Amino acid sequence: CDRLHLLSLLTLWAILFLFFFPRTRLNAFREVTPVELPNCNLVKGIETGSEDLEILPNGLAFISSGLRYPGIKSFEPDKPGKMLLVDLNEEDQTVLELKIIGSKFDEYSFNPHGISTFTDEDNTVYLLVVNHPDFKSTVEVFKFQEEEKSLLHLKTIRHKLLPNLNDIVAVGPEHFYATNDHYFTDVYLKSWELYLGLAWSYVVYYSPTEVQVMADGFDFANGINISPDGKYVYISELLAHKIHVYEKHANWTLTPLKSLDFNTLVDNISVDPVTGDLWVGCHPNGIRIFFYDSENPPASEVIRIQNILTEEPKVRVVYADNGTVLQGSTVASVYKGKLLVGTVFHKALCCEL
Ligand SMILES: *[C@@H]1O[C@H](CO)[C@@H](O)[C@H](O)[C@H]1NC(C)=O
Ligand SMILES: *[C@@H]1O[C@H](CO)[C@@H](O)[C@H](O)[C@H]1NC(C)=O
Repeated sequence: CDRLHLLSLLTLWAILFLFFFPRTRLNAFREVTPVELPNCNLVKGIETGSEDLEILPNGLAFISSGLRYPGIKSFEPDKPGKMLLVDLNEEDQTVLELKIIGSKFDEYSFNPHGISTFTDEDNTVYLLVVNHPDFKSTVEVFKFQEEEKSLLHLKTIRHKLLPNLNDIVAVGPEHFYATNDHYFTDVYLKSWELYLGLAWSYVVYYSPTEVQVMADGFDFANGINISPDGKYVYISELLAHKIHVYEKHANWTLTPLKSLDFNTLVDNISVDPVTGDLWVGCHPNGIRIFFYDSENPPASEVIRIQNILTEEPKVRVVYADNGTVLQGSTVASVYKGKLLVGTVFHKALCCEL
């Protein structure tokens, strides 16, 4: 009888662990109620992902496309990734592939993930790109040459504290905070750890003279960004459905201030440079990202958070689609009344707000 009891207890735990717990974390069950915006158009020329994007103050948007990520769908698994440029001032946007210049850069293994820009006092724009050549992790530093529509490769950064990078926020030409999602080294083992929620991940500050873990214990740390005044860092914890606010100190350390809970997998965070609002690309039914089925595609959802530092931040779903129009949104960013939404491996959508 005792043995039977023990056995059923073990079974219960096994069910909790293997079924219920991960499914909750992956938010498997939620169906999406559509939230529409007027005047939405798919951006022509983007068909194989727009994983991350960043809009410059002049309306030029950088988009990373063609990510190959273990366990996640890719419509062009044999092609290298690329960096795209879209001018949001144009009525009918055209997508331009940025030429990459630099003899030390291997374009064939380019696998871009999170991106971030830094503009210095001379208005030089640096583009920092998380890259996964052969599923390793590096940060590539480029200088944007607007006239030539090209990226000049300046440097490849590797470090043992940057083993499986996801997203990055630049605070200087070679200075950044980055999230490690613990997913890339030893893919098979790590994906089981990830599935079971044992793959704790962390945030690192990197500069040429100092590299340090600044926050850890996340259940898949994903998006990261910074407030316009540079005083707060926002981190999305994908599988815990949380956004954390950290206070950033002059010595680059971070102290936790508060966190917000969501009923969706929170991916990239972009920050409106004017209002300071957070725009978050989300996966309302995340399991469909990890187990792709074209008949039942992953949905898209965009959330806007206003006044995040106050007692009662205003959280609103601005856009939601069941995957008919846009599959697997990861990121959303605004420019002059326009909303640009990117996806893991699908298209990109531009809407009027
Ligand atoms: C960094 O600055 C914060 C706030 O001033 C302080 O509390 C902390 O001890 C400092 N940490 C280090 C390692 O200097
Ligand atoms: C998604 O919504 C559209 C329109 O509301 C509907 O026609 C379609 O069947 C839905 N698709 C799925 C997969 O639920």
